[in-house]
Amino acid sequence: MDGEPPWKIPPLAPADSSGSIAAGVRLLVLPDAAAVAEQVAATLLREALRPQHRPLGLATGRTMEPVYAALNRQLHALETAAAERLRRSWCSFNLDEYVGLAPTDPRSFAAEMAARLVDPLDLEPAAVHLPDGLAADPEAEAARYRQALEAAGGIGLQLLGLGLNGHVGFNEPPCSAEAPCRVVMLSPSTREQNAGTFGGDPEAVPDRAITLGLREILAAESLLLVVTGAAKADVLRRALQEPATPELPASLLQRHPRALVVVDAAAATALDPCRLPAAAPQ
Ligand code: GLP
Repeated sequence: MDGEPPWKIPPLAPADSSGSIAAGVRLLVLPDAAAVAEQVAATLLREALRPQHRPLGLATGRTMEPVYAALNRQLHALETAAAERLRRSWCSFNLDEYVGLAPTDPRSFAAEMAARLVDPLDLEPAAVHLPDGLAADPEAEAARYRQALEAAGGIGLQLLGLGLNGHVGFNEPPCSAEAPCRVVMLSPSTREQNAGTFGGDPEAVPDRAITLGLREILAAESLLLVVTGAAKADVLRRALQEPATPELPASLLQRHPRALVVVDAAAATALDPCRLPAAAPQ
């Protein structure tokens, strides 16, 4: 919690024609997923305690499970007054939700947030916003969610995971940087990636979702992309070290002026070592 914010890490070399990490991106490589979770939780907590911060942008998925566990531990280690201030001022908007799942359905992202965030941190449920997966008109719900986020001032710090096909939120490839919050069709690979929550059956994963678009994500004050595990090493390399393209939505994050990428050693193995900072202060 103490010390300089990670944003103060000296800039990497600017992008050149060979495709190095872009100038606005800072990279922090930590030994393992546990260390990543502690770092990311500390960054979220610091942001949540910053006076007059904009809403937090939150993500779900397996990568985030240890992050929320660490956030829970760190919040309970805070002084009572700080913890109370955080609870009172909490406002977050999640990236996405499946169409067709009630918030009480244990497979929904709303239920995941209730179990990992709202209940353990004792937050006001109404302060943790997600799209309503059961809305009768999903397109209208996407528009309502977009407007609610706008009315709240847009995202301050946006937490992001990385899909195996390069999606962020549920912005499936191809996806333009201008795509707004909307209803999307999920790709077969994403339904397969997320089948674990649905008894291992990709067909049981809803085929649609409401997601914040790259437009709202790229409008955030800062981005915090979290990537762990060897399975994501190649997509991380393409996202950071190949030219930005709609074919790999995560690569469009290179355009952001304040993006911190926190990864474990396993996810970093495919990155070109010549283009990494010699030492990244934490
Ligand atoms: C999911 C979610 C994303 C998530 C990503 C990675 O489909 N929509 O928000 O960050 O894919 O998921 P995981 O962390 O489980 O690999």
